[in-house]
Amino acid sequence: MRRSRLGTAAVVTFTALSVAASVAHGRSAPARFVPEHPAIINGAVVTAADYAARWNAMAAVVASANGVTALCGGVVIDERTVLTAAHCTYGISGAPLAASSVNVVVGRRVANTTDGDKVSVLSITRHPAFNHTTLHDDIAVLRLTRTPTVAITPITTTSAADESWWGAGAGLLRGTSAVGPWIAGWGAVNGAGSSFPAELHEAQVPIGSDASCASAAAPGHGANFDGDSMLCAGVPGTATGTGVDACQGDSGGPLIVGDGAGGWRLVGLTSWGQDCGGRYYGVYTRVGRFASWIEPLRYHASATPPVDSAPPSVTPPAPGTGSGSGTPPASGTPTGPATPPPNPAGTTPPAGTTPPPASGTIAPGEGDGPAPGASTIGPITIPAVAAAGRPPSRPTMFRVVSRSSDRVTIAWRAATDDGRVTSYRVLVRTARGWRLFRTVTGTRLGVRIAHGRTSTFRIQAVDDGGQRSALSGVLIARPA
Ligand code: ARG
Repeated sequence: MRRSRLGTAAVVTFTALSVAASVAHGRSAPARFVPEHPAIINGAVVTAADYAARWNAMAAVVASANGVTALCGGVVIDERTVLTAAHCTYGISGAPLAASSVNVVVGRRVANTTDGDKVSVLSITRHPAFNHTTLHDDIAVLRLTRTPTVAITPITTTSAADESWWGAGAGLLRGTSAVGPWIAGWGAVNGAGSSFPAELHEAQVPIGSDASCASAAAPGHGANFDGDSMLCAGVPGTATGTGVDACQGDSGGPLIVGDGAGGWRLVGLTSWGQDCGGRYYGVYTRVGRFASWIEPLRYHASATPPVDSAPPSVTPPAPGTGSGSGTPPASGTPTGPATPPPNPAGTTPPAGTTPPPASGTIAPGEGDGPAPGASTIGPITIPAVAAAGRPPSRPTMFRVVSRSSDRVTIAWRAATDDGRVTSYRVLVRTARGWRLFRTVTGTRLGVRIAHGRTSTFRIQAVDDGGQRSALSGVLIARPA
């Protein structure tokens, strides 16, 4: 748990492992407020029917060491891509969590069951401008290691151009059960933030106008509210626990708005609030503002590869290339602008209108056909297999992590934008040029090097189609 500089009253709770621990050990402070209808805060239990109608894309982001305990919510946007809040991807120490310590659970409504599927995370891509203090740009992309074995209908994300459609700015898009806006999560159901439910809870939270969100007077958040990356929603109450709001443990979960045709659109991700169900709105990451950042990080990227992306290096560079400790120009990491998804031309309210077509429904097994128990939401179609996609991104943070007198361990960060990476080629520089030294599946390698000598390495990622990433920077390794 950490306090931010958001102002004296602002309590930004970083759920992460602290919530995992308190739930796992059944520790809970005495509730100061017991809602009449226990929920998110004053919401309701999501029944199986509600789950099928609204929450099929809901995900739980959990610690891999304790798979039943939710760290945070998340939401499935394609068969291997999950969005969550960036702040959910840090441990209580403040250090970023490794992808290997995070799992995603999908298809599960009741937390302490084995329903659905738990999938390990291949990579975590945090928004580069995420600010841990202000919680600006609180969004991260989790790439799953495989397609879930249960049928999930990914939710369609919104873009900035959709904002007029769902009422941004003017705010107070008010709920009917068809429109929402809805939030859901396994977060605390009491204003004290200490009691966590097993069943998913939901609530309707009207979206506040940008002006009221930014108002210093209740129910706003004054200058702590950043309309470029946040929106606010909820029913402010008079004291902690009487409003309708998200709470600790709900972060990263979706705020959805009905599309007028029975479908749902992702408008927000639960991010922060001054309290739970108190005098202020809850604050959500404004997903539409991140459309062009999200798009190239999808599993089946709809964008063409960025033009500055280097082609895969099939052969090691000639001797002398990249010699010394310099790092070659960055390549292979998608940075170019992506084409945002199509948007409705006009600005039409949700009720009775048809926003842009939803993206495809996915079925498990990548072409094995519809699974038993496939979702009843919409048609189940087999996604187009990513035909000759772009190469994996270049591994980064190539470094020496430990040394002894005759041994060096080198490590790198996994390629972050492609779930199909299966191995890494470790190349060593020899008198005759760069040679393949070893192919490994992990992201570190111990190497014997005679005392007093050095060896020079580069690495590249290889995907399941044999495509290779651009080469990493050069690393000169020297025993201690
Ligand atoms: N930061 C919290 C979390 O990590 C979410 C808090 C939302 N609070 C609120 N009052 N809306 O789960």
